[in-house]
Amino acid sequence: MLSPVLLLIILLAVILFKLLSNAFKRKKFSAEASARGCANLPVLPRKGFLGLGRLSEISKANKEGRSPQWFIEKFDETGKDVHTFTASALDYELIVTRDPENAKAMFSTQSKDFEISPHRRDIWSPLLGDGIFTAQGEQWKHSRQLLRPQFSRNQISDLDLEEEHIQSLLNLAVLESGEKGWTKKVDLAPLFLNFTLDVATEFLYGRSVNSQSIHNKSISNQGSGLDSGFSYHLDAGKSWLYTKGLFGRWNRLVHSPQLTKHCKEVHRFVDELVAGRLNGTTKSSAQSDRFCLLNELAKSTQNPLELRNETLQILNAGRDTTGALLGWVFYFLARNDRVFNKLRGIIITDFGRDRTGEITFEKLKQCQYLNHCIQEILRVASVVPMNERVCTSDTTLPRGGGEDKLQPVFLRKGQRVLISNHAMQHRADLWGLDVDEFKPERWEKRIPGFEFVPFAAGPRKCIGPEQFALTETAYVIIRFLQRFDKIENSEEPGPPFFHYIFSNRSGTGVQVRLHEADR
Ligand code: HEM
Ligand SMILES: *[C@@H]1O[C@H](CO)[C@@H](O)[C@H](O)[C@H]1NC(C)=O
Ligand SMILES: *[C@@H]1O[C@H](CO)[C@@H](O)[C@H](O)[C@H]1NC(C)=O
Ligand SMILES: *[C@@H]1O[C@H](CO)[C@@H](O)[C@H](O)[C@H]1NC(C)=O
Ligand SMILES: *[C@@H]1O[C@H](CO)[C@@H](O)[C@H](O)[C@H]1NC(C)=O
Ligand SMILES: *[C@@H]1O[C@H](CO)[C@@H](O)[C@H](O)[C@H]1NC(C)=O
Repeated sequence: MLSPVLLLIILLAVILFKLLSNAFKRKKFSAEASARGCANLPVLPRKGFLGLGRLSEISKANKEGRSPQWFIEKFDETGKDVHTFTASALDYELIVTRDPENAKAMFSTQSKDFEISPHRRDIWSPLLGDGIFTAQGEQWKHSRQLLRPQFSRNQISDLDLEEEHIQSLLNLAVLESGEKGWTKKVDLAPLFLNFTLDVATEFLYGRSVNSQSIHNKSISNQGSGLDSGFSYHLDAGKSWLYTKGLFGRWNRLVHSPQLTKHCKEVHRFVDELVAGRLNGTTKSSAQSDRFCLLNELAKSTQNPLELRNETLQILNAGRDTTGALLGWVFYFLARNDRVFNKLRGIIITDFGRDRTGEITFEKLKQCQYLNHCIQEILRVASVVPMNERVCTSDTTLPRGGGEDKLQPVFLRKGQRVLISNHAMQHRADLWGLDVDEFKPERWEKRIPGFEFVPFAAGPRKCIGPEQFALTETAYVIIRFLQRFDKIENSEEPGPPFFHYIFSNRSGTGVQVRLHEADR
């Protein structure tokens, strides 16, 4: 047994050592920083015991659906014209930026000094495997080289894929109009998520889970052999992963037999499709000349685990994001009659009044106002409000330090930097005093730089936006606005609620009533 006195001495020695070594590190840091011509960042004042006050602030903001706005408030709280600050709680330090110059450095010009956070793999891989979205270094390069070419191919331009599933969506009983041509109140958010799941599974595996047809007796998945339990297990599994995400670097503490079960079911489902493809017994249910990612990948690799991992990662990256974007589109249209009417007029001119009007890639590209509306949605209601990078070596950021907050800053290897897209997209000095308004016209005279990177930029830029997410979104908007000539918001007025789960981004859904146009 150690005597209490000895114990006390050891404890004091440890504390003294810690203090000295921290002071030493700080000194070395300052010396190195000034050698590189760097200045200190403004500091968000610590709050509460050990700085924990900030943690409870953010968790409260998160519950209230306003965590993206909370970050804006923190920039302003730190000081005037602060666009990059440092904050700490316990012994943990974090840098947050809304400076396009810094985003450019991290994503693009200095991307070799930055990596995605290692927590990403810890959090997502139990359900979705390890692949392009979670991998780093050589492993990521391999995944990217495998997948990227598939997304620039013309095969993806197959718009029949959208048409078939949008018809299932428009055929849903909840979109049938009744009295005076109005539908009952309907929540569009989950409808869009089922739609994007159906499109994504067909694109990935050549066979759609047809989640939208579950209510249609005459299809009801017969013949396709696909288990509709997939979407349930996928969503339930993902909501566990979001819980893990909230725990950050302590995410490994979150365990559950339920999560294990959801993972098993999702894997079983995908493994069967992969095995069928590899032994040649599964044919695509739809036209077999249609593009299907699994078929293409199987030409390069026969590793069933790799095929499972990469396809699930694409499903994860592409489905909820596009579904959430569609939700926000109708959320804002339902609150902006002027934009709705203008957009509808343009759509009818360009694409006709009904589905006989052909939609082509060329025509989509040329429909400027439609594209401006989608961009403006991505700006006001950031689908991905926050991104993150970790330094892989000692490095610098170009801006944010010193009195004028314009000096470069020094970063140590391992430091975390959050890029707040939402805050960057809501800076009045960059966007004008009408920054909080939903105003697609602002894009008429604007070529976005790094203040607008909804799909990130540089080597790890999203691989799905042009050919996939934006096309799919535009397509749905066109078919909806051809059929409905009015949309009415059924929710109480108030600021948007930003839920931390993608698939539930607007918190209360997108509650509207739609009015069927005369034909
Ligand atoms: C509105 C829809 C979408 C948004 C807002 C979005 C946004 C993003 C962002 C911000 C990143 C970068 C993450 C980072 O910097 O670490 C990313 C990466 C990625 N996205 Fe998207 N995305 C969307 C749709 C899609 C779709 C439809 C697909 C595929 C079909 C897709 C596939 C990917 C992949 C594979 C990556 C990882 C790329 C890499 O790390 O090399 N995304 N996305
Ligand atoms: C697939 O992901 C799992 C993690 O869930 C990982 O252990 C495995 O090595 C990955 N396999 C391949 C071939 O990428
Ligand atoms: C059900 O599916 C059939 C076959 O695709 C389709 O013709 C019909 O319109 C659908 N009915 C409803 C209510 O979705
Ligand atoms: C979405 O699909 C699932 C699975 O088919 C189904 O149970 C659910 O009712 C669908 N949601 C809506 C809102 O139609
Ligand atoms: C091919 O794979 C499927 C799905 O796992 C399996 O049911 C079937 O028995 C396999 N067929 C052959 C010939 O191995
Ligand atoms: C979405 O978020 C709201 C607010 O937290 C919650 O009440 C609701 O149950 C959530 N819905 C889903 C489908 O997760």
